[in-house]
Amino acid sequence: MLSTQSATVVRATLPAVGASLGAITELFYRRLFEERPELLRGLFNRANQANGAQREALAGAVAAFATALLERPDERPDALLGRIANKHASLGITADQYTLVGRHLLGAVEELLGDAVTPAVAAAWDEVYWLMAHALIAIEARLYAEACVENGDVWHDMEIVERVEESPDTASFVLSRRDALPTEPFLPGQYVSVQVELPDGARQIRQYSLSTAPGHKTWRITVKRERSADGRVPEGEVSSWLHAHGRPGRILKVSLPFGDLVLPDGEGPLLLASAGIGVTPMLSMLDHLTATAPDRPVVVVHADRSPAQHAHRLELSEHVSRLRHASLHLWYENDADAPGESGTRAAHVHEGQAAVSGLTLPTNTTAFLCGPLPFMQAVRSDLLAHGLAPAAIHYEVFGPDLWLSK
Ligand SMILES: Cc1cc2nc3c(=O)[nH]c(=O)nc-3n(C[C@H](O)[C@H](O)[C@H](O)COP(=O)(O)OP(=O)(O)OC[C@H]3O[C@@H](n4cnc5c(N)ncnc54)[C@H](O)[C@@H]3O)c2cc1C
Ligand code: HEM
Repeated sequence: MLSTQSATVVRATLPAVGASLGAITELFYRRLFEERPELLRGLFNRANQANGAQREALAGAVAAFATALLERPDERPDALLGRIANKHASLGITADQYTLVGRHLLGAVEELLGDAVTPAVAAAWDEVYWLMAHALIAIEARLYAEACVENGDVWHDMEIVERVEESPDTASFVLSRRDALPTEPFLPGQYVSVQVELPDGARQIRQYSLSTAPGHKTWRITVKRERSADGRVPEGEVSSWLHAHGRPGRILKVSLPFGDLVLPDGEGPLLLASAGIGVTPMLSMLDHLTATAPDRPVVVVHADRSPAQHAHRLELSEHVSRLRHASLHLWYENDADAPGESGTRAAHVHEGQAAVSGLTLPTNTTAFLCGPLPFMQAVRSDLLAHGLAPAAIHYEVFGPDLWLSK
């Protein structure tokens, strides 16, 4: 909880700091990477730096945390902190790195706001930073302890033992431990970080959801290749590298699994709604349900460009057909009536944008969403209108979460 003295100062300066957070986080990263260029090449996602997404996520998170401290001082914003801490844990972030980040973040505030940053203002924002930092450090320490690792030691070598082309732009990679021991346990919906060394020598890290159930001897990730749109933006660095070089026998550095979008045990009804490559965490959940809870009521909704571009189309329908009370609703922008589509078992196939408003969903449904933000926002609005509680709607963003802090 923020001290009374600092709360007064933070309340008075939040509008000014909040209005400058975009500039503050931009300067923060510039100063951080001037001092430690290896962090940009080896830890941070340089596409998220170039397109501004990570600056926006950091600014949003700091503003949301400061606002929560003032408006709900007795509550910890666990959803916000948990999402960040899981991402940090999958990167092996350590407690000592918070001192460096804090120095540059608070330094950027002082540099940009100048004389407005009196010693009292600096002290109050230092307190906000360290409250957030200590909360994150504590959750990360718990995550590391649960994973039985010390000090962010989350990386290990895994070998690609199989590659499967799932659609023209999507390939699955089956991963096995090199020491032939069983893979570590995880919860359906979680992801791993994968690091690759690019031709310019930079090491870049990306996250990929595990797309089969836990408990197998191997893990599987499914990667969509990010193509360059009209040559205006570069093609995705890591997904292109994996598509070009990810063959059986290749060793990858992969983190232990983390992530806060996880399937709860129980018997309550579920909605799994995905679009495009957002199907991956849903596949893991469905695979798990077929083995552990085949009677659980599940409605599966998936949207894609066309049946041909829909990765794991048959696998999705096979999982659904193994569940006794499940239905599958597919929406395609094009070719919904392509020959063979009617053969997708148990599926209701539609053309156009996905809509869940016409589905029969019990109001105690727990919903899991994964896909582009506009898709998830539309589905969430429909679900709220349908009577689902906001707390029953969970989602994963395949990038910095710019939704959580809005
Ligand atoms: C929790 C989580 C789970 C995920 N699970 C999956 C999964 O199961 N499968 C999957 O395929 N992906 C998944 N992702 C996404 C994945 O982590 C990567 O983001 C994705 O593969 C793209 O990475 P990349 O290196 O190929 O592209 P990047 O190089 O990171 O580029 C990303 C985008 O930014 C654009 N860009 C790059 N540089 C610039 C610039 N200078 N200006 C403007 N735009 C630019 C690129 O054109 C591209 O469109 C997940 C992400 C998260 C966070
Ligand atoms: C209080 C301090 C911090 C805050 C508020 C913070 C906030 C954030 C947020 C909001 C994200 C995006 C999470 C998501 O939506 O997935 C993130 C990711 C990340 N953070 Fe932090 N962070 C802090 C400290 C640190 C530290 C100490 C490091 C280590 C140098 C670090 C390194 C990273 C990296 C590498 C990413 C992923 C970046 C990307 O993929 O673009 N963070 N952090």
